[in-house]
Amino acid sequence: MNAEGTDDMGALLAEIREMLEAGGVEDPATDAELIAGHVLGVSRGRVQALAILGGALSEEQAATARELAEERARRVPLQHLTGRAPFRSLELSVGPGVFVPRPETESVAQLAIDALQAVPDPEPLAVDLCTGSGAIALALAREVPSARVWAVEKSREAHAWATRNVAEWGDGRVGLLLGDLSELEAEGVPTPLVRGLAPLRGRVHVLVSNPPYVPNEMVPRDAEVRDHDPALALYGGADGLDLVRIISRVAREFVVPGGLLVLEHAEVQGRAIRELLVADGWRAPATHRDLTGRDRATTALR
Ligand SMILES: C[S@@+](CC[C@H](N)C(=O)[O-])C[C@H]1O[C@@H](n2cnc3c(N)ncnc32)[C@H](O)[C@@H]1O
Repeated sequence: MNAEGTDDMGALLAEIREMLEAGGVEDPATDAELIAGHVLGVSRGRVQALAILGGALSEEQAATARELAEERARRVPLQHLTGRAPFRSLELSVGPGVFVPRPETESVAQLAIDALQAVPDPEPLAVDLCTGSGAIALALAREVPSARVWAVEKSREAHAWATRNVAEWGDGRVGLLLGDLSELEAEGVPTPLVRGLAPLRGRVHVLVSNPPYVPNEMVPRDAEVRDHDPALALYGGADGLDLVRIISRVAREFVVPGGLLVLEHAEVQGRAIRELLVADGWRAPATHRDLTGRDRATTALR
């Protein structure tokens, strides 16, 4: 801090970058700039400009930035500290209890958006199972303005975040349902989820999901994921494919003949997923690469 009670932006960035580096944060320079930008309410580009131009922060702003950096150095996800996560053109609200949307899922959403845009129906219908924050469902609604979208989530905490995001970004075209996908296979008294989805049977043009797919024994190395993403969002049974199996079966009841199923998965799961989809009667399964060249999504036609 200088005599005017302000902190030099460049010096503060260097200081918090060091704190983050010591905590093992993957990209400390970027996170330092994003923390400073969050505190000042400006973009990362503006923070970089301020650092070059010798800009300053108030004593209070610098103290807040240091506090956030301390938490980030303890590997609390940056998105939990800022409360926001970018996803395609959206800025979603996130925090404890909900999976933080990832850049690779943006490529998965693209596959669904392309398919939805090609539907000749004036009001194409899409479903996002395991919606978490609502990321995929809301991206579909925003980028395909004629579409109606339904989203399903089991966790009450995640559903609460999704409710908030749907109110902000849903444009009145996204319906959100709380429930467990396995209810869609169970016999007996219909649950609110079963009743809510019943009118969509045989009518959905694109059904997309980023389900939990980490094998139970494969605990993620990154503390941000391991300690802060909900276990329900990560683990998918012994081979990670428990939810994929359920989705493959129930999606056939909802997707219109010729409609598309889009699934995100781990790099090594493409072949197993193509095989199980074919065994369930899906056609033309194809695995797609993300922007880093890894097999991260599989599509199939009803
Ligand atoms: C990997 S996260 C994906 C969240 C979001 N689609 C995204 O891409 O950011 C998986 C989500 O599936 C939800 N989930 C897990 N099991 C479920 C089930 N049986 N029925 C419905 N949702 C489930 C989790 O709570 C979590 O929000």
